[in-house]
Amino acid sequence: MTMLRRDDNRIIIHFDYDCFYASVLEAENPALKSLPLAVQQKQIVVTCNYEARRRGLRKLQLIKEAKQICPEVVIILGEDLTKFRDVSKSLYTFLRAFLWGHRVERLGFDEVFLDVTDMIDHNMGLLNRNDLGHSFFCLDRRDPTQGFEFDATQFCGPTFPMLSTLSTFNNDLDALTLRLILGSYLADHIRTHLDRKRGYTATVGVSTSKLLAKLVGNVNKPNSQTTLTPPYVPGQGDADVSNVTRFIDDHEIGKIPGIGFKTAHKLRTYLLQRELTVQPYNERTQDEQVKVRDVRLSPGMGPPKLLDILGGPGASKDVGVRTWELLNGVDNSEVQEARAVPTQISIEDSFQGIQQFDEVKRQLHVLATSLIRRIRADLVEEDDDGVHRWLAHPRTIRLSTRQRSPMNGDGSREYSYANGRISRSAHAPSFIFSLGENPEAIAEKLVDECLVSMFRKLHPDRPFGELSLINVAVTNMVESAGDQRQSSGRDIGKMFRQQEEVLKDWRLLEETRSDTESQAQQNSASENIPLDDASWEESDEEEEALSTEACGICGGHIPAFALSAHALYHAAPD
Ligand code: TTP
Ligand code: MG
Repeated sequence: MTMLRRDDNRIIIHFDYDCFYASVLEAENPALKSLPLAVQQKQIVVTCNYEARRRGLRKLQLIKEAKQICPEVVIILGEDLTKFRDVSKSLYTFLRAFLWGHRVERLGFDEVFLDVTDMIDHNMGLLNRNDLGHSFFCLDRRDPTQGFEFDATQFCGPTFPMLSTLSTFNNDLDALTLRLILGSYLADHIRTHLDRKRGYTATVGVSTSKLLAKLVGNVNKPNSQTTLTPPYVPGQGDADVSNVTRFIDDHEIGKIPGIGFKTAHKLRTYLLQRELTVQPYNERTQDEQVKVRDVRLSPGMGPPKLLDILGGPGASKDVGVRTWELLNGVDNSEVQEARAVPTQISIEDSFQGIQQFDEVKRQLHVLATSLIRRIRADLVEEDDDGVHRWLAHPRTIRLSTRQRSPMNGDGSREYSYANGRISRSAHAPSFIFSLGENPEAIAEKLVDECLVSMFRKLHPDRPFGELSLINVAVTNMVESAGDQRQSSGRDIGKMFRQQEEVLKDWRLLEETRSDTESQAQQNSASENIPLDDASWEESDEEEEALSTEACGICGGHIPAFALSAHALYHAAPD
């Protein structure tokens, strides 16, 4: 058998906020907390609070169905992602502040991985092995008095497998158990503070990799945590199977992050030795489920066999090894380091359907003003002497729009994302970096000198139809080097002006995304089902939230998350 590259030297904590969008709305309006609350995007409940779940509602249900099950449900539209994004960023910053290092990674809006290895290492060194029951967890390396007391002879909070609440260990605990015990207390500490200080509860997992931390958190939800306890390798103590294997074996293969949709489909087909009857986007019926154990223990299974099954054009060469590792609960991928500056800043709003150019211009002004404010908030740093410094300069400005779906004869609208976004990019003008002017004035100039002409190029036809969304973004961030102060900021302004001079003939010459990118998206939707094998590498925000997949029935591009609900939609009578 191939040696697995198991490495349990890290401690990783995974946070997944409970019913995230619903919690954001509850924080805004606490009266909602005691009511069943559902958040709507299109015809779907994208999430609902736990009060609603108690009454039988669930995520990704049709609105119509939700109303039938729970007529008193409060439904709030959640298509504008701005506030969810803002809260997501601010909670991320809150969590990040607990860490000593920078390994903290956001996945989507509501998940965060923390690599707390350095804190655990330090605190392992502080333990008194003769009196673990009276331990102190140090939270600040520079201030040994900062922290909390804890009992290191038992885990904090639930574990997998479940230990009796009274179970304590003696003083000769093995290092991994002790490290995980420390991790469980730290997780509890951070979770409690997130709730007390910010009012958000989370479901948390503690283990030695991103894979295991993320999966084990799900064992107890909401507002709880779970630590995966040792042994992590077989043959330790009296175990002939490790807890990692016991835990992961029971998962349907499609539930393993890193095993994408297509991979799961191929593995099921291989194991069941037949073409699967259901369309890939449907919920899997019981007899078409394949557990990790089934694959792992099937005859001859291992990296070469997996490469046979999964390899081929487009697949990476190490797909066999990588999948074999995942099936064995091995994931050495790093928690990515926090970036000092965002890769892009974007502001958008959705509308019922804008048809008038004047209205477009008005909205562009509103969006551009928020964008300038946001650029300043995210990219300008003020030091103790009140000196401003640009952390980075975006080089590109992008305008995107989305058309409203056309009306059917009966006045209804086609439920489909077939009309994707189109966009156009240009060089960002240097005046947006001027801190002397107010944001409204800069925004006005931006609209008049840039956005209007970009809009006209994007929508050369008159009338331009009905717009349901406008997004203005700056991208292509160039980080400022070292210790630049305002003075050099001005130099950068000059540099940009020179560059503009040189490039002015090229402005607005960049591609219109309608022809290129959406085409690429269509290709990837039909040939290479999105989210496949790249679950860890999900990128940014809107794009991520809006990643689409072609529906096998209507051909519409449906957000990947909504496919099963969309399938129901086709099945539902009118
Ligand atoms: P999830 O973490 O899947 O769901 P949740 O946080 O709402 O609920 P849970 O307590 O079960 O973790 O997703 C996070 C947010 O992302 C969710 O609040 C709404 C949004 N979302 C979508 O927009 N589309 C989707 O398909 C899903 C699943 C979530
Ligand atoms: Mg969540």
